[in-house]
Amino acid sequence: YSFEFIETTVKGNIAVIELNRPRQLNSLNRKMVCEIVTAMEMFDREEEVRIIVLTGKGRSFSAGADIDEMTGDDPVSLELLNQFADWDRFTLIKKPIIGAVKGFVLGGGFELALCCDILIAASGTEFSFPEAGLGVMPGAGGTQRLTKLVGRTKALEWLWTGERISAETALKHGVINKVVAPELLMEETLKFANRLAKQPPLSLRLIKDSVNKAVDYPLYEGMQYERKNFYLLFASQDQKEGMSAFVEKRRPDYQGK
Ligand code: HXC
Repeated sequence: YSFEFIETTVKGNIAVIELNRPRQLNSLNRKMVCEIVTAMEMFDREEEVRIIVLTGKGRSFSAGADIDEMTGDDPVSLELLNQFADWDRFTLIKKPIIGAVKGFVLGGGFELALCCDILIAASGTEFSFPEAGLGVMPGAGGTQRLTKLVGRTKALEWLWTGERISAETALKHGVINKVVAPELLMEETLKFANRLAKQPPLSLRLIKDSVNKAVDYPLYEGMQYERKNFYLLFASQDQKEGMSAFVEKRRPDYQGK
């Protein structure tokens, strides 16, 4: 694959996807979104890759959707373009996605960040949904994912005003997992990624699947779903490895099978 707007690297079990339009603060054009999700799907299928890291080159993670690209849109062209079909593909990625963000995380950039499972932000990062100020609103899951994360009270406040939310405030409201010094962003992210990469991949995968169901399903249905995934893990070699390593008092070596 050769990508125009992103760069990808694999080190050991960790794949890193970098948004690579730094002069436009990684504002997201449609091809770029397609490239990001295509790279994720590619790494999702690659056996050596256990964790996917998403980050951006330059001073900002992403200043949102490319406004120049949207100015001429009308409802019919948007319907025919069906750009959100690419955004739907993020939902199907099974491996853990860690977002490492800094600078501006705005609009579609914030929505992209919310597609990650774990978010680590450099101090000084500013999150916001500025769409209302442009006469529109989020369209790639912003109103849905933010509300499920922080509840309707804060979601309405942030979405209506477009105010900038600091990394500390985002942490307080459970939008992100960690705030780190800017110069340590990648180091801390890779440290976390490596820690996750030592866990049995199938467990991580089915935990993600079950936790996502917890967001969407009523409790009883969610618990039935969880149970099937729990049973499924007993068919894995890693379950046997994990439990025998415990009994034999040694370190487990997980193969992801
Ligand atoms: C297109 C953008 C852009 C964007 C920045 N740029 N954001 N181009 N779309 N979203 C470009 C600028 O035009 C400029 O290009 C260059 O990036 C650097 O930006 P500056 O404005 O010079 O930098 P600065 O003064 O530091 O201000 C940074 C900023 C500001 C506060 C982030 O750029 C800004 O307000 N951007 C727009 C943010 C926004 O409204 N995003 C939401 C988009 S709507 P030149 O060529 O002049 O150097 C959205 C809807 C999602 O995301 C819908 C679902 C997909």
